[in-house]
Formats: sequence, C-alpha cells, structure tokens
Amino acid sequence: MKDGKFLTIAFESSCDETSVAVLADGRDVLSNVISTQIEVHKAFGGVVPEIASRHHLENINAVTEQALSEAGVTWDEIDLIGVTKGPGLVGALLIGVATAKAFALAYDKPLVGVHHIQGHISANYIESKELEPPFMALVISGGHTEIVEVTDYNKCHVLGQTRDDAAGEAYDKVARVLGLGYPGGPLIDKLAKEGNPHAVEFKRVFLEKDSLDFSFSGIKTGVLNYINQEKQAGREINAADIAASFQQAVLEVIVKKTVDAAVSMKKDKIVLAGGVAANSALRAMLDEACAKKGIALHCPPPVLCTDNAAMIGCAAYYAYKAGETSGLDLDATPHLPL
Ligand code: KG4
Ligand code: ZN
Repeated sequence: MKDGKFLTIAFESSCDETSVAVLADGRDVLSNVISTQIEVHKAFGGVVPEIASRHHLENINAVTEQALSEAGVTWDEIDLIGVTKGPGLVGALLIGVATAKAFALAYDKPLVGVHHIQGHISANYIESKELEPPFMALVISGGHTEIVEVTDYNKCHVLGQTRDDAAGEAYDKVARVLGLGYPGGPLIDKLAKEGNPHAVEFKRVFLEKDSLDFSFSGIKTGVLNYINQEKQAGREINAADIAASFQQAVLEVIVKKTVDAAVSMKKDKIVLAGGVAANSALRAMLDEACAKKGIALHCPPPVLCTDNAAMIGCAAYYAYKAGETSGLDLDATPHLPL
C-alpha cells in the first residue's frame, strides 16, 4: 500500500512484448513499461518463439526495475503480483510466470495468474473509469477473434469465435502478400486510407444464419487470386485499393456480428480489445453502427490495445478482489480457454 492505495505489479510475456506495469487500486496506471521485439522478428516476417523467449529472459529484470522506478514504488509497498498464465507461446509465457513466482516467493506477496484475453478486455476499465460490466466485448488480435459476453469482472462467456485464422493473422498475411512488411495490421490500416474500399468486392464470410463465428482463412487466397488475375491480364495492381477493399470485407462482417450480438443479448455497451482494436477503420465503422442502435462504444488507446502489462494488472486486481489467488505451482498454459 502507498498513500492508502492498493498496488499491483504485473508481468506480460505471452508473445513478443516484455512488459511490466504498476497500478494503484486496479485502474490507475503508475507505470507501463513495454519492451517490444518487433524489430527482432521483422527479419523473419513473424514471431520466432525461441527468439522471443530468449529476449524476454534478457529483458525482464531491467523492465521490472524500470516499472518500479517510474512508478516510484518499492517491493515493500507492492500488495499483489499479477502475471499472464496463457494463452500464448509457452516458452515466452514461462519467463513471465517464473519471474512472477520468484518475486512472489522472495517478497512473500500474493500471486494471481491471468488469462491474456481477460487482460485485453480489462484494458477498458483503465481507459473508461466509470465502465462496469455487463457489456459485450469484441476481442480481436493476432491470436484471437472472439465475441464475448461479459457479465461480471471475472465472468464471461464466448458467444462466437474464429474457426480458422484470427483477424490480426489475416491482416498480417495479406500485408505479406502485398509486400508491406510486419506486423501488417498498422501498415494496412495506413495504406487503406489512400484506397477505395469498394474497388474489389472480396467475399464477405458470414457463415450460417445467426452464427457469431468467423472465418478469415479464405480472404488471403481471395487477395492472392485477385492479384494473379490482374497480373495475368497485364493490369497494374493498386495496393491501396486492395488494402482498403480487404479491410472493408473483413470489418463489415466483424461489425455486423458484434452489434447483432449486443442487440440480441440486450447490452447497451460494446468494448473493444486486442491489437486489431487499434485499427482506425474498425473504430469508425463500429462507432457509426453503435450510434444507430444507441449502444455506447468503449475503446482503449492503441498502447492499451496491443500487448501490455497494465491490462494484466487490472485483471489480476479484480480476480484477487473476487478471492482468486494462484499458488507457486502456477504453470504457463499455451492453450487456455476463456
Ligand atoms: O494483441 P496483440 O498485440 O497480440 C496478440 O495477442 O495477438 O495483437 C497483435 C495484432 C497483429 O496481428 C497486428 O497486425 C494487429 O494486432 N494490429 C492491427 C493494428 N495494430 C495492430 N491490425 C489492424 N490495424 C491496426 N492498426
Ligand atoms: Zn494480446
């Protein structure tokens, strides 16, 4: 405790960001240090798990010290340790879990293992101080695309999810096809602003009537086929038009299903979570669709959308308040259902 406030330190290392954060009373971020490995993995066009683990191991102590010093707190004042326990890359997760357990043992602090997606959703509590469940959440990242009904801080269930690729994965794959680089999401987001979203009508995949599931594995092939067909016909391809049209096809489906879910489950709030939630076109389209239905839309700023430890600390705080703790036998779980 410091100045009467409950202090949580949290660790996130599920993919390619080593992050440590300190929060006061669960929602106030005192520090949120993020050491990204994007530059390291760029050369390979995607995250290399073994390299990610090694970098987490090299960085985590320095990132921890920086998080404590930026927050101006000492280990004595910390009340709780939170850590991402899964899902994610097992070797990467293990570094965060082992570090959190070592500190919990050394400083005799309670420990809570957090589901990564619960963390992404909780980023909204940090951004919108008045936000409380229930609401509908759209979790959309490099590894996930899920429509989640959140009924309490620690209670939620998945109404629909991707049957193949995650939305972020589709962005990254299409960016690769267009030769844009890695990670593809932000690059497509930027390029699409200069293109015509109706230049190419890529297939909108809605699946069965009333299904809230998604399928994005076909769109990369759709884009590839289009490019080949244009090249064979001797026509110049316009990357901005393709980026904008791909994005339009994917987002129309995502926005419709998310708003339909909120309406049918009688939710007046939708929250966005995950890396793709930083996408400007998604925000604009959802904003418009929500306004038509009288639904309030909450989205965290981009830094809280992509992987960070502040969101994990917030989720850990609410789990601990609900009576949850983890033992020193806490393990990293690469495949962990919500
Ligand atoms: O949540 P996150 O940092 O890591 C996972 O848990 O997956 O999400 C990373 C994903 C990547 O696929 C990246 O391309 C995508 O989020 N992304 C975006 C944007 N910013 C990040 N996708 C579309 N538009 C963006 N502005
Ligand atoms: Zn994530």
